[in-house]
Amino acid sequence: MADKTSNAMWGGRFSTGPDAIMEAINASIAYDRRLAPQDIAGSRAHAAMLAAHGIISTKDAEAIREGLLTVLSEIESGDFPFSAALEDIHMNVEARLKELIGEPAGRLHTGRSRNDQVATDFRLWVRDQCDAAMEGLRALQTALVDQAEAGADWVMPGFTHLQTAQPVTWGHHMLAYAEMFDRDIGRLRDARARMNESPLGAAALAGTSYPLDRDATAHALGFDRPCANSLDAVSDRDFALEFLSAASITAMHLSRLAEELVIWSSAQFRFVSLSDRWSTGSSIMPQKRNPDAAELLRAKLGRIFGAQVALMTVMKGLPLAYSKDMQEDKEQTFDAADSLMLALAAMTGMVGDMTANREALRAAASHGFSTATDLADWLTREAGLPFRDAHHVTGALVALAESRGCDLPDLTLEDMQNAHPAITEAVFDVLGVDNSVASRTSYGGTAPANVRAQVARWRKTLAEA
Ligand code: ARG
Repeated sequence: MADKTSNAMWGGRFSTGPDAIMEAINASIAYDRRLAPQDIAGSRAHAAMLAAHGIISTKDAEAIREGLLTVLSEIESGDFPFSAALEDIHMNVEARLKELIGEPAGRLHTGRSRNDQVATDFRLWVRDQCDAAMEGLRALQTALVDQAEAGADWVMPGFTHLQTAQPVTWGHHMLAYAEMFDRDIGRLRDARARMNESPLGAAALAGTSYPLDRDATAHALGFDRPCANSLDAVSDRDFALEFLSAASITAMHLSRLAEELVIWSSAQFRFVSLSDRWSTGSSIMPQKRNPDAAELLRAKLGRIFGAQVALMTVMKGLPLAYSKDMQEDKEQTFDAADSLMLALAAMTGMVGDMTANREALRAAASHGFSTATDLADWLTREAGLPFRDAHHVTGALVALAESRGCDLPDLTLEDMQNAHPAITEAVFDVLGVDNSVASRTSYGGTAPANVRAQVARWRKTLAEA
């Protein structure tokens, strides 16, 4: 099909074909073949609209439709003869259509350019990725809510600076991530709504003199409306950037959770064990169970940040309208989307399968003076001390316990009263970790009762999604 002396699509003006290196730098077919389903859907919508408005004949439109379906099935079955000489998916499909149906294939491109064609295909593809990412995030939220429900009252240390801070519940910690991933879903939903306008019919950059029905093609492809400005329609890739931005923030959240899984599954923490399905061994150290999936996920997500920076950089110097630089939008976005989907699936698998070690969580929460704040609060509430003074008295008691190598509940009442005479036996009630978490009933606090109420809310939200 590829004619080396004059390109089939624009050969009229050229006397020789491209240099081999030119072909190598120019061709995108190695990766943009992924846009085949979107490209064919766009062409079908365009051809049907051209026929509906008498711009091409119904007979030609029918031949185009049949031919495109054949092309799609050839691509799906792996029988399609992709050619680098034909640059990209758009020209590969059209050239094959010509082989299959002859002359009517040449009428498909009426009132259309590859510029609006690629912008349409890519929007459709990125829109699908938004949907897939939202679905993946919902599955992950479900796994987190399952964990939260099982461990609504399991006590663990909450950290700041990775130093023991105050006891929290396992369920509360899991639901913190459910919240973060919900905002990620919101960002993807917003991006999807904004990108859902059709560039098709913008043609090369200026629109066309053919009486196209852009509403019809927009509607056929599931867009809310056509883009209102033809220059904008073919020039911007902000929709991909918005996807990459939302994906980057999601990736950052996933990576933090991955980091926690790596820390928690260590022999020093033992907060969780990852299942065999999500661990690997060592070829030399027989005791090893490595959290490789969490580590790889943490690392792989860097690609998404990279893609966002790369595409920003591609776009930032381009005058309107289309420049070939924009062909570099796809590989980065494809790779980022693949990395995101893989990371979401891996994280959902790990969270769903992991077992929290309830005893280890509790033991860790009981060390490190995690209830010192409860003691200071007790002094303020029961003995009427200003909080700053209560903080000081408690600090002295922590120092005392530390010097004895014990924890706060191990001090005697006499020790306590030496620090402040108003302290009574009742103080010991607040030094236990269960009472500590149970008391945190402020809205959004870690109390098991709150966690259970939030689990119920999440169940409802996820069922409605
Ligand atoms: N493969 C090209 C891309 O991805 C398609 C658009 C080509 N347009 C052009 N004017 N050369 O951007």
